[in-house]
Amino acid sequence: MSGSARDDEVDLDDALTVVMARVRPHIGEGRVADYIPELGRVDPDRFGFAVATVDGRVHTVGDTDVRFSMQSITKVFTLALVTQKGDTHVWDRVHREPSGSAFNSLYQLEFENGIPRNPFINPGAIVVTDELLATTGDAFASLRGLLRAETGNPGLDADPVTARSEQATGERNRALAHLMAGFGNMRNPVPEALDHYFRQCSITITATELARAGLLLARHGRRADGSRMLDRNAARRIMAIMLTCGTYDAAGEFAYRVGLPCKSGVGGGILAIVPGRFSIAAWGPGLDAKGNSVTGSLALDTFTQATNCSVF
Ligand code: DON
Repeated sequence: MSGSARDDEVDLDDALTVVMARVRPHIGEGRVADYIPELGRVDPDRFGFAVATVDGRVHTVGDTDVRFSMQSITKVFTLALVTQKGDTHVWDRVHREPSGSAFNSLYQLEFENGIPRNPFINPGAIVVTDELLATTGDAFASLRGLLRAETGNPGLDADPVTARSEQATGERNRALAHLMAGFGNMRNPVPEALDHYFRQCSITITATELARAGLLLARHGRRADGSRMLDRNAARRIMAIMLTCGTYDAAGEFAYRVGLPCKSGVGGGILAIVPGRFSIAAWGPGLDAKGNSVTGSLALDTFTQATNCSVF
């Protein structure tokens, strides 16, 4: 689906044509994540790019109606749910600094006393989900409800096969969570918190839906129904953490190349926000060495250069 061509001097349909021309020769590049067997079964030759404008129109190119595993991109939305009533004590449990190490790394957590560096590496995300579980009684249902409403898809859900795969292969996440529990930084029993975390990672979404959901941030905290979920400061802060910590240990390179708050997932999706204007979803399953989508990164780099849309 395509909205009208112009938006604030940017011709989005032209920009999408430029993006596709640049990305096409690279479709299929990168390595599909296979540490979870279900993720390894995805067709590597997919690519989709969707731009939603704050008035709700969506411009798309490529495979934007194919479902993919949302994975770590969910961490933006659990953080939004946990911080929606202003700064909570979750910030006593997780810091807001880039980690410079892999998302599932253990060693930093040990010498930093069980307080994860940020909410987007695995231990930080587990803390946020644990906090959401403690405050709502059902972290997964809260997240799913938010995403159903913001995407406009009442059937949005976790893929149970991927969720089982996450459980079956989740030893490092169990190690991270138990280490934090050892430091007194878990509020729920580890297996319960991780059950919600694994199902959260397994939610499937399309690029079009993801672009719509990201409008929550592009609109500085306003939901699709017009109600306010986050105040402007809370939305601004989530985007700041996306910019500094949203793309694993490539966040510096992303800020340099793309210049937008982004959050990636090992399913090959990347959500990027142009505050006050656009929410962008890029999806290509092949990942680079840091775990970010090769074609998604290239597409965002091309888009911001073609449109001059960046926060800098
Ligand atoms: O926790 C895991 O193993 C994955 N499901 C993490 C997802 C992801 O995209 C990487 N995260 N930070």
